[in-house]
Amino acid sequence: MEKAFYITTPIYYVNASPHIGHAYTTIVADVLARYHRLSGSRTFFLTGTDEHGDKIAEAAEKSGVTPKAYADRISGQFRDLWPKLTITNDYFIRTTDTNHIETVQAILSKVYDAGDIYFGHYEGYYCVGCERFYTEKELIDGKCPDHQTEPEFRKESNYFFKMSKYQDWLISHINANPDFIRPERYRNEVLAFLREPLEDLCISRPKSRLSWGITLPFDENYVTYVWFDALINYITGIGYPDSDNFRTFWPVAQHLIAKDILKPHGIYWPTMLKAAGLEPYKHLNVHGYWNVDQSKMSKSLGNVISPLELKDKYGLDAFRYYLLREMVFGLDSSFSEEGFVQRVNAELANDLGNLVSRVTAMVMKYCKGKIPALTPEADAILPDTAARVIGDVEKSFQELTFHKALMSIWELINTANRYIVENEPWSLAKDPANQDRLGNVLYQLLEAIRVVAVLISPFMPGSSGKILTQLGITDPEREDFKTIRTWGGLSSGQSLQRGEALFPRIDYKPDGGAAEIKAIPPPPPIKPEVSYEDFEKIDLRVARILEAEVVPKSAKLLKLKIDIGEERTIVAGIAKDYKPEQLVGKSIVIVANLKPAKLMGIESRGMLLATDTTAEGITVLAFDREPRTGAKVR
Ligand code: MSP
Repeated sequence: MEKAFYITTPIYYVNASPHIGHAYTTIVADVLARYHRLSGSRTFFLTGTDEHGDKIAEAAEKSGVTPKAYADRISGQFRDLWPKLTITNDYFIRTTDTNHIETVQAILSKVYDAGDIYFGHYEGYYCVGCERFYTEKELIDGKCPDHQTEPEFRKESNYFFKMSKYQDWLISHINANPDFIRPERYRNEVLAFLREPLEDLCISRPKSRLSWGITLPFDENYVTYVWFDALINYITGIGYPDSDNFRTFWPVAQHLIAKDILKPHGIYWPTMLKAAGLEPYKHLNVHGYWNVDQSKMSKSLGNVISPLELKDKYGLDAFRYYLLREMVFGLDSSFSEEGFVQRVNAELANDLGNLVSRVTAMVMKYCKGKIPALTPEADAILPDTAARVIGDVEKSFQELTFHKALMSIWELINTANRYIVENEPWSLAKDPANQDRLGNVLYQLLEAIRVVAVLISPFMPGSSGKILTQLGITDPEREDFKTIRTWGGLSSGQSLQRGEALFPRIDYKPDGGAAEIKAIPPPPPIKPEVSYEDFEKIDLRVARILEAEVVPKSAKLLKLKIDIGEERTIVAGIAKDYKPEQLVGKSIVIVANLKPAKLMGIESRGMLLATDTTAEGITVLAFDREPRTGAKVR
């Protein structure tokens, strides 16, 4: 049977322009779609915009235009942005499209006729930002935990969907399908919600208050609640109910979202599908949040990162690479321009860019620009590494560990760079007796580059194409995850087409300062093994920070008064990354039996544990729940 793959992004609200968070989800979906196409699957990729509801009506009113005119404008911004980021969506859905309106009404009628929608009275706290009601328990200090705003108290007669009826079914479905919601932390979060009795879902809004929505098919005085409307886009977009696409793609549907909209996707949507007599989606893939320099991105903080600005400044592929390499799928990440530039310079310009330019330059010089012959006694190192890396990349794609996929590809790049150093083609070139060996070494390197070019293609399609063209491949489109399984695919005698540098080095000047950033060395190699007895000689303890102050005349040092069951003073070199007030009250880990040392005249009795300086600075080791002060750490 033909393999099929269907991926969706959230449909984005049209109340704000696209930023790096929207770009990340859409680029991840694009990377997945490209990978599955290259692996021979029939693929469908859906994105679009969510245009009804209070939020949009309010934003339109503020701008003094009708909701439709407002939605047209912002939806257009999303639609225009995606081709600039080489997004290959197959369809762009808008919830104001006629076919979507009809689908929502058809599903509502189906669920209503089945007796799962009833009329009732409701009062509760409503957050317009989230477009949902909150229970008092969910609020923190009376405020929405996401928006930190006080929700409105609303009292209304409305229609309700009997979501509670499907609670037990949903729990067993999640238990029976461990990767229904992934990574696991989000599956656990949904199961935790489901430990409390599920309330029925209010799915209408009276037109007297909000008219910007899809009219209920069974009561024209009401419009549909925006989430009940929006989620249905995932089936409208592939032609529900009887298109060929719907039959092919719904059984393999995978949704991609960030953690902010886990509840509607993990709870409302599967129960809605069940009530409508449809199979649940296959996977809900949930990623974390992009923050900026450690703080939440927000218009009021003025730190919203525009994807187009970054792309224009540094190039599209560098931007796509950074997003996928930096974030561990499922966890939060912090965007930093400095970190971005470091990755581009080290990993793209140095490792990958130099590999391609050195090897092609040597083929120009030593082989008249033509691909040499592969001799039978070829070395095994590059083909073996390539075969292993291809397997690892495929596994990472199944597990959505994109950063690992890229790390594996860089293993092949780095092995190729070492292979150059070890074989010194420039020395081989000097001796006519070594010409076969020289040709062989260069052929191996060119093949490794072909494999790398295909492996990076879902992430950096532009650069992949450029590399394949440089290798003299006239039809780059024909290269895919099958053709790289055979070592020796390049045709000997074919001419290379050298091009300009793939990733020029970036000179980064932090705002205002003229100084260039200092390169941060990579982490040192792992040290030789030690016995458990040796490790046990180091006494690690939980310490609570009681007081913190800067050490006068020092840019780096902080003096900390700590409690480990006894009070002590330690001095730590973290002043560039932590302010004293961020530290007081924190529990950390210290080496409690390190010989005391004097720093700037202060005796330090212990040393805290923290990372070396990385692109994000120094990070102090902390706990994910409150430990006992003084406890031993092993
Ligand atoms: N309209 C709803 C979704 C309906 S889907 C049936 C919505 N729209 S949204 O415009 O607020 O988009 C939320 C999504 O945008 C997140 O789930 C995520 O995909 C992306 N991101 C927005 N900000 C983000 C970050 N700061 N970091 C990562 N992704 C984020 O919710």
